[in-house]
Amino acid sequence: MVRKCNTDFASVNRSLQAGLRKGNELGATARELDSDISAEAKPSRKGMKLKPTGPGPGKRAPGSRAAKKEQILSDNTYKASDVPLTIGELWTSRQRQMHPIHYTVSYRASFKPELPDYFIKRYLSDKKKALVLDPFGGRGTTIIQSNLNGFSAIHNDLSPIASFLGRARRRIPDLAELELRLDEIQLSSKKSNVSDEDFLRLEPFFHEKTIHEIHNLRQMHLDNPDDSALSYIALTALSRLHGHSDGFFSVYSFPQISIMPDAQRKNNRKRGLTPEYKAVKERILKKMKRDLAQPLHPSFNRAAANNRYLSCDATDLNGIETSSVDLIVTSPPFLDKVDYKKDNWMRAWFLGVEDRMDELPLAIFARLEQWKDFMREAIREFGRVLRPGGHAVIEVGEVISGNQLILLEREMAEMLPLEVRGGGRVVAREICINQQEFTKLANCWKVTNNSRGTNTNRCLVIQKEG
Ligand SMILES: C[S@@+](CC[C@H](N)C(=O)[O-])C[C@H]1O[C@@H](n2cnc3c(N)ncnc32)[C@H](O)[C@@H]1O
Repeated sequence: MVRKCNTDFASVNRSLQAGLRKGNELGATARELDSDISAEAKPSRKGMKLKPTGPGPGKRAPGSRAAKKEQILSDNTYKASDVPLTIGELWTSRQRQMHPIHYTVSYRASFKPELPDYFIKRYLSDKKKALVLDPFGGRGTTIIQSNLNGFSAIHNDLSPIASFLGRARRRIPDLAELELRLDEIQLSSKKSNVSDEDFLRLEPFFHEKTIHEIHNLRQMHLDNPDDSALSYIALTALSRLHGHSDGFFSVYSFPQISIMPDAQRKNNRKRGLTPEYKAVKERILKKMKRDLAQPLHPSFNRAAANNRYLSCDATDLNGIETSSVDLIVTSPPFLDKVDYKKDNWMRAWFLGVEDRMDELPLAIFARLEQWKDFMREAIREFGRVLRPGGHAVIEVGEVISGNQLILLEREMAEMLPLEVRGGGRVVAREICINQQEFTKLANCWKVTNNSRGTNTNRCLVIQKEG
């Protein structure tokens, strides 16, 4: 039986959120490192001791955050466990190797498309038809890669911004259609009815004429939510809002995070900058041409046409039938450093969802035990929706707490086996650690390029018993 999805955000999961922002014990991460299945992946043996490679901690400024992290990572060895361990360059460390449609828009904490591609090929290569799910869908990396591989998928995410990022690529029109649609849109012919309050917030970033063009496009998109060509154009515009090159609509700013207007004003003063007029349509067209230069196989749109998009709490995927999903590839949130609302204020404004962002009971945890309680419920729910024999791959990053590396994949493995709703159990099958060869320095413990991020994918593979 299919139950209806609960989208009453205010009432869902509130208890999990209470007071979680205080006393964080989890560390920082930035997962976006985009990566291709490597035919020559060389798995290592279970429980092996990892030997750090590359220059040691001495290369970092003593006492710096980077040096401290390096020290912690080099002191840790992976403990043997009952769960088989695979370590290797499972997919390439080279950037942006997959279809450019993945990179239409950036998203904090997204994983590389090579990660879902690796597991889709591993578990579904003998299947003509299969259903893939990402319960923490983000910008839609898993579902887009599933569609590229010819499988339909379900995207679930509580954030309306993430939902839009996934949904806007449900049908990707060809470039000729998009050019035609863009041509029809009148953005500069009249001043928009942007409110004084919004104008004040946007003024530090954009020239007045640019503000009106963006606002006109916003209004058109909000008035026509079912126009797929317009949605794709709006998605492209969303990705061009602010950044540090002339391809963006804004004066020099950060590309991934929307900084607050006052901070932008300060930057402008410091750099002596005044926002210049940036023609919105021409920048959208340029970006669309780049992203669609490599034609999409018609099977993409066929598979995507059967996608579903949900806004449920991942612990209660009540829009999804029991035992209906073949594969889950996902990465849950696991730190309280990401302020989704503040960091995304301009995207939320552009999509008209600012009010909804206030209400979101996103899983933001201060303490490991709370994260584990949440994940236990989520894994139970993954177990319910998986078909017997189906797999779930849960990717986590490396988290440092005090002087300890917390191995979240191990923390999850230790929760298993778990009885699942609707009968049956899920068991831990494997831990896969993607060890990447970075140009600066890396092994799966010591990744020091930019140091604050998670440069290693650590995945727990679980299976619903058949
Ligand atoms: C690490 S990101 C996933 C990124 C994704 N793998 C990608 O490549 O874009 C985690 C996502 O979980 C969503 N999220 C947080 N708490 C949630 C919850 N309780 N239920 C469903 N989604 C949630 C956030 O909005 C965020 O988009």
